[in-house]
Formats: sequence, structure tokens, C-alpha cells
Amino acid sequence: MTIAAKWTIDRAPDLTGRTAVVTGATGGLGYEVARGLASRGASVLLTGRDAVRGARALDALRAQLPEARAEFLPLDLASLRSVADFAADLKERTDTLDILVNNAGVMASPRRQETADGFELQFGTNYLGHFALTGHLRPLLVRATGGGRVVSVASLAAWQGQIVFDDLQGRHRYTPFSAYQQSKLANLIFALELNRVAQSAGWRLHSIAAHPGWARTDIAVSRSSAPQGIVERLMRRIVRVGFRYLGQSAEAGARPILFAAAAPEARDGGYYGPGGRGERRGRVTEARIPPQALSLSVARRLWAVSERLTGVAL
Ligand SMILES: NC(=O)c1ccc[n+]([C@@H]2O[C@H](COP(=O)([O-])OP(=O)(O)OC[C@H]3O[C@@H](n4cnc5c(N)ncnc54)[C@H](OP(=O)(O)O)[C@@H]3O)[C@@H](O)[C@H]2O)c1
Repeated sequence: MTIAAKWTIDRAPDLTGRTAVVTGATGGLGYEVARGLASRGASVLLTGRDAVRGARALDALRAQLPEARAEFLPLDLASLRSVADFAADLKERTDTLDILVNNAGVMASPRRQETADGFELQFGTNYLGHFALTGHLRPLLVRATGGGRVVSVASLAAWQGQIVFDDLQGRHRYTPFSAYQQSKLANLIFALELNRVAQSAGWRLHSIAAHPGWARTDIAVSRSSAPQGIVERLMRRIVRVGFRYLGQSAEAGARPILFAAAAPEARDGGYYGPGGRGERRGRVTEARIPPQALSLSVARRLWAVSERLTGVAL
């Protein structure tokens, strides 16, 4: 199916009566995705680690969309306990979930840090936390009318990524950007594998991936207090300046994610991003998939390792 030129969320169907969860919705792309879904009538649960930032995001959303059906719930993807508690809380509130947007992310923490469960921070937050969340929420997703959608937010950084199975947690060798690249490649591999598993198992679930190109958000701002070396500071500065001058707005960066979450034209197992030069900005189109995301053996091995590490069977 062709994608309308200049697709925006206004082209999506009415989402009244649909429930959506957006991770990392306190700012950046997640906030724009939550706003877009709410603008079509969906009931949106914004999630994040920080209740103050959550309250601020809700206030901003209500100021822009007074009719929005939206709430904030705490969810820290760097803690499997928090992921399980959030899922249990959600199951008390609803029997079905129509849209899950696995968006939250951290980029290039200067020094190797760990999640509450001892995973390298980026792999644990960006990937393993979302793996566990999707596993916990699968029973709700498969009950959605027409099957729930799981949207995984990947990145152009996946092109430089490798899944280093003998050092997934960067214990022997850690570099801030390669850990980020691995985590975003893992997000994309997961989306493609979830689609294959859902189809072969007959789950009523749609798995679709998207990336925002380069978008002006807080992703390149370190919230870590860890000291940074000169190379990391320089890299972070280059990324920040690059995103500021060459990137698109957060609203535009959110479009491919919204397309994956709400457009009837989005294909199961599809990958969407901006269509401009280098996929850095522009209108929504099919994104190119890095070859290392297409290996079935890597996908199966990553899935098995993720089930073991998280203790969540998908
Ligand atoms: N911006 C870009 O150009 C770009 C490019 C490619 C891919 N991406 C991807 O897009 C996604 C969103 O990034 P962004 O650019 O919007 O960055 P951002 O402005 O920094 O937003 C990141 C969001 O993730 C949340 N988050 C971070 N750690 C979390 C944790 N442990 N548990 C729960 N939530 C957590 C943050 O919430 P709190 O800090 O409030 O908890 C915030 O809401 C990420 O997956 C990123 O990899 C972005």
C-alpha cells in the first residue's frame, strides 16, 4: 500500500475507545506520540520514571488538547520489578491494550552503568525492559479488537550496531555509542522476530518498527552525573549540534512512530522512517533495514537470551 505524501496523524482513523501505552512519554518523541494518539481520541497512558516530569507532560498535553483522555503511570524500564508492577497495575485497569509504543530510551551514558538487575544501562533500558514489558502485556494485546499493535522505536544507529553475544552487557569492553547501537539494533531485531513469532503462533498481534531519523529532543543531553571523557564529550556535542541543525522537530520525528501505531497502511513486520536524504528527516516512508537485523539465527538467539535474562517468556 502506498503511503500518502506528507502523512500526518490526522489521516489515521478515529481511535476513540482504544487504549494506548507510550513508554518514555514525559518528553521528546514519546510525548509527541502520546499527543498524536490522544488527538485521534485514544485513551493514552503516558509513562516515565519521574512523576514530576510526568505531571508536567500531562499538564502540557491537557493545555494543548483539553479533551484528551490521558493519565500518567510510573514505569522505570531499568527495573524488571517496576516493569512487572506496571503490567500488574495495568491489568487491574483494563482487559485489552490496543497500542503499545516501546519508545523510552537513554543514549550513550558516558561511563558503564547498570540497571537495578545488573544489565548494562542502555541494553537493559532500551531493549530488555521493553522485551519484558511486551511479554507481560501480550495477554492484553491479543484481546484487542483486530489484534494489538506493538511499535518498537529503533534508530539509524542500528546500522552501526552488532549484537555481541559473548559480552552483551559490555563488561569486558564498554564504549558509550556501541552500547547504544547494540540496544537499538536489538529493538529492530525484536520487532521483526516478534512479527514472525506472532504469525507462526497465530497470536492476534501486530509488530511494527519505526525510527525518527534525527529529531531535536533531549536524547543527547546526559542526565547522568558520571564524569565524561573528552571523546565522549566531543561525540555528544557533535550529536547535539547535528540534531539541532540537521534534525527535524520532535513532532516530525514522531510521525513514522505514529504511522506504525495507528495507520491502517502500516504492514506487520514493516519498518518506517523519514524519507529524506539518509533517512534523517522528511515525510514518512518505508525505512531500509540494516542487513545485520535480518539474520534469523541472531534473532532467535537474542530472543532466547532475553527470555533467560528477564525471566519473562514471551
Ligand atoms: N531524537 C532522535 O533523533 C532519535 C533518533 C533515533 C532514535 N531515537 C529513539 O527515540 C526514543 C525516544 O527518544 P527521544 O529522542 O525522545 O529522547 P528524550 O527526549 O531523552 O526522551 C526519552 C524518554 O525516555 C524516558 N526514559 C529514559 N529512561 C527511562 C527509564 N529507565 N524508564 C522509563 N523511561 C525512561 C525519559 O523519561 P524520564 O527521563 O522522564 O523518565 C523520556 O521520556 C529513544 O528510544 C531513542 O533511542 C531518537
